[in-house]
Amino acid sequence: MKTFGVYNLKGGVGKTTTAVNLAYLAAKEGKRTLLWDLDPQRATTFYLKIMPAAKPSAKALIQDKSMLDRLIKPTEYANLDLFPAHFKIRHLDAALGEMKRRKKQLTRLIDTLAARYDYLFLDCPPTLSFLSENVFQAADYLIIPVIPTTLSLQTFKQVKKYLNKHFSNPAKLIPFFSMVDSRKILHRKTMEALNTTTNFCATTIPSRAVIEQMGTHRAPVPHFSPKSDAAQDYQALWKEVLRRMEQNA
Ligand SMILES: Nc1ncnc2c1ncn2[C@@H]1O[C@H](COP(=O)(O)OP(=O)(O)OP(=O)(O)O)[C@@H](O)[C@H]1O
Ligand SMILES: [Mg+2]
Repeated sequence: MKTFGVYNLKGGVGKTTTAVNLAYLAAKEGKRTLLWDLDPQRATTFYLKIMPAAKPSAKALIQDKSMLDRLIKPTEYANLDLFPAHFKIRHLDAALGEMKRRKKQLTRLIDTLAARYDYLFLDCPPTLSFLSENVFQAADYLIIPVIPTTLSLQTFKQVKKYLNKHFSNPAKLIPFFSMVDSRKILHRKTMEALNTTTNFCATTIPSRAVIEQMGTHRAPVPHFSPKSDAAQDYQALWKEVLRRMEQNA
């Protein structure tokens, strides 16, 4: 099983949108895929129309392995399961902070899933916390949506530096430009400046109205609008992620 953390310290950059669309595309290719909603905002859980079967405390979630089986639910899409979020997991960070091997608790839980899935996607909240440390430890790859503005790039660099400083074998980064508005000079200039010096994906995800409509359809874009440009963009992004994985294998 390969684990992707969809992460950025910055909020509202397209993490949840990316996690839902890429997990859907992976599942559609026949890969056994689990999407884990780690964010108490529950946006992924909302998009996939799932109600949690139980609402355990954050501590119970970490300590009681049977919770995984009780909480993981199939979605309406073949091969795609969801570990839904509920409001009490907002205490997950504090619960992790109290544990002895506090960076490795998520890895311990994820290891128990390895035989059941090909891919695990973690939809992360925008924090740099004990929970993110667990994600950094557990993930093979961090898919990082970055809006091409000066501040977003600063945040990206900050995360990169943090990872290299605190992790001996950090997850490989797969950054891409998200919510791109090519009419904006700042977006164009920022992307041009970076293209030659960093490993940002060649695929970018433009800002498009159809992507915002995920909230009303409560479904992945390639499901409710398979012929749209946005669906093609996510397909291209998923292919590029797969290529990067092959290069690293
Ligand atoms: N490419 C896009 N084009 C247009 N709207 C987008 C795009 N990507 C995301 N959005 C919209 O922007 C908002 C934020 O997206 P999303 O929830 O995926 O971000 P996030 O990084 O997960 O946010 P948070 O940090 O709060 O978890 C949502 O309303 C979503 O529909
Ligand atoms: Mg989100």
